[in-house]
Amino acid sequence: MRIAYYVGITAVFLCIFGAASAADLDATIKNCNDCHGDNGVSQWDDMPTISGIDAFTHADALYAYRDEERACGESAYRQGDTNRAPATMCETVAGLSDDEIDAIAEHYAALPFVPATQDFDAALAETGAVLHKQECDRCHSEGGSNAEDEAGIIAGQWMGYLREAFTQYAAGERPQDKKMQEKMDPLTDADVEALLHYYASRQ
Ligand code: HEC
Ligand code: HEC
Repeated sequence: MRIAYYVGITAVFLCIFGAASAADLDATIKNCNDCHGDNGVSQWDDMPTISGIDAFTHADALYAYRDEERACGESAYRQGDTNRAPATMCETVAGLSDDEIDAIAEHYAALPFVPATQDFDAALAETGAVLHKQECDRCHSEGGSNAEDEAGIIAGQWMGYLREAFTQYAAGERPQDKKMQEKMDPLTDADVEALLHYYASRQ
């Protein structure tokens, strides 16, 4: 009798709580997509595609924004109500709990990454391919396209966004793996440019 009562109460509670948080999650994800694009696939050079990134790396990025450890520039909404005031990543995730962040990261991890259709210089891309193989492929395998490395997806990411990422790492405005920094610090501007064209060539 007593057990049945508790089971009943728990079921009702789970039902209400589950429905409310699912609706919240949908609204949050719609908000993300209004900047990042449908299903997290961006059509804008300065806006990263966020689908297909493994959940661990995605959640880690959101934690870094929430803790304001990672630079976050102001950005306009790209679709939906574009009259909304521009916002930053830090503001966007400021109110999210760990559980919400993990659920959002899982949602995008299950969606396919779609490489950006963008221009690149073929000669630079060839130079970049060699450099990537030597310096970066150990952690960013398959030319930076393997989500299972838990190092993001750089092959086919938008060039404008990646250029900004290189700038932020160099300026110490974004947390960076120590071993990666050893590879990044010696890169010349020409090396970075070649790498950018290599990643853009991966379509
Ligand atoms: C107002 C526009 C805007 C909204 C809303 C927004 N983002 Fe972003 N997001 C950006 C911009 C611009 C960047 C590029 C880096 C920067 O400027 O911070 C970015 C970067 C990111 C990154 C880093 C990508 C990487 O490869 O490291 C992730 C992950 C991300 N956003 C996820 C989300 C999620 C999840 C949401 C919803 C909870 C969201 N964003 C909402 C504009 C937005
Ligand atoms: C020791 C492992 C390691 C090495 C070597 C390494 N990386 Fe990374 N890289 C990571 C990890 C882990 C992340 C994800 C965490 C983060 O956002 O910093 C990352 C993230 C990145 C990002 C950001 C991706 C995004 O979506 O915002 C870029 C760009 C990048 N690496 C470029 C490089 C380049 C170029 C090299 C070679 C010169 C390199 N990495 C070498 C581990 C490594």
